Amino acid sequence: MNNNTVTEKKKRIFSAIQPSGTITLGNYIGALQNWVKLQDDHECIYAVADLHAITVRQDPKAFRQNILNAYALFLACGVDTEKSIFFIQSHVHTHAELAWILNCYTQFGELSRMTQFKDKSAKHADNVNAGLFTYPSLMAADILLYQADLVPIGADQKQHLELTRNIAERFNGIYGNTFRVPEGYIPQVGARVMSLQDPKKKMSKSDENVNAWVGITDSPETIMKKFKRAVTDSEARVCVGEGKDGINNLIGIMSAVTGKTNDEITAEFEGKGYGDFKTKVGEAVVEKLRPIRESFEKYVADKAYLEEQYRKGAEIAEKISIRTLDKAKKKIGYLPR
Ligand code: TYM
Repeated sequence: MNNNTVTEKKKRIFSAIQPSGTITLGNYIGALQNWVKLQDDHECIYAVADLHAITVRQDPKAFRQNILNAYALFLACGVDTEKSIFFIQSHVHTHAELAWILNCYTQFGELSRMTQFKDKSAKHADNVNAGLFTYPSLMAADILLYQADLVPIGADQKQHLELTRNIAERFNGIYGNTFRVPEGYIPQVGARVMSLQDPKKKMSKSDENVNAWVGITDSPETIMKKFKRAVTDSEARVCVGEGKDGINNLIGIMSAVTGKTNDEITAEFEGKGYGDFKTKVGEAVVEKLRPIRESFEKYVADKAYLEEQYRKGAEIAEKISIRTLDKAKKKIGYLPR
């Protein structure tokens, strides 16, 4: 090797997604697509965030299947266990343990300001549990345990990441350098994929109107139907503009799945109607998701393979994260066993 070559240490990435029944096109464009891209040049650690998921009630049988499906789906999207560490959050005990510790370094006022807490507690008024409230300290634990440099997320998780940074800085300020303070990695295009029915709202699987979101494993027919019904405006011009939330969103989706710029898309659809455009966006999404859906079917049918992979991931994740947990406990003054 040339002595002048400076070998830079790869940056560490951490991210996770909750295993809700449906993983949406928003999750894919906002986060998963970047997870896959980052794998070659970074040291990536990814998780199925199943501990987070019980802040809302889960049916045990469906929950178990959803966790497995999410693991299989992320593999189908291109998460590669030869390159990345990929595990199920509840398999690694350090997450819950550090979350408790970090709860004691997180202020009630900070958690009360989280917009997601306000939204979710309004939505599930009959079950505003303490976990829903302290959920951001669990997310901080996930990230800080791995000393992550970057966290690929969509725009809606930005506030939680800011809080993670504040918690890390606070802890480091008291005890000296313990946690790396992470940066967000938010895509230029598609950080906030909007509802197809109400483009002022984020695309979310919890939307009661099923036409508002597209699931990664939706059939081509369903995807086409949902795009054809997408809300637009009365101007009938395919271009980005104020008051054109529906079209802006569709252009954003088109750009994220094809790699074309807004200008290229505008030029391509010059003089064409919205009907035409919506069909083409639907087709582009179908083509992007087709191989993922096919590959998902194969992975999900192979339970033995999935088990082998998530076990391997959890073993490595545990080894890495225990080092940080032990360091934090020692700094606080806990007596080693
Ligand atoms: P979750 O499961 O709600 O969403 C997973 C990822 O998808 C992104 N996302 C979107 N991006 C663009 N447009 C949308 N409409 C859209 N909807 C969702 C989210 O920003 C997120 O990146 N708390 C997290 C999961 C989590 C986590 C972590 C993330 C747990 N621990 C540590 C990062 C690091 C959550 O509920 O995301």
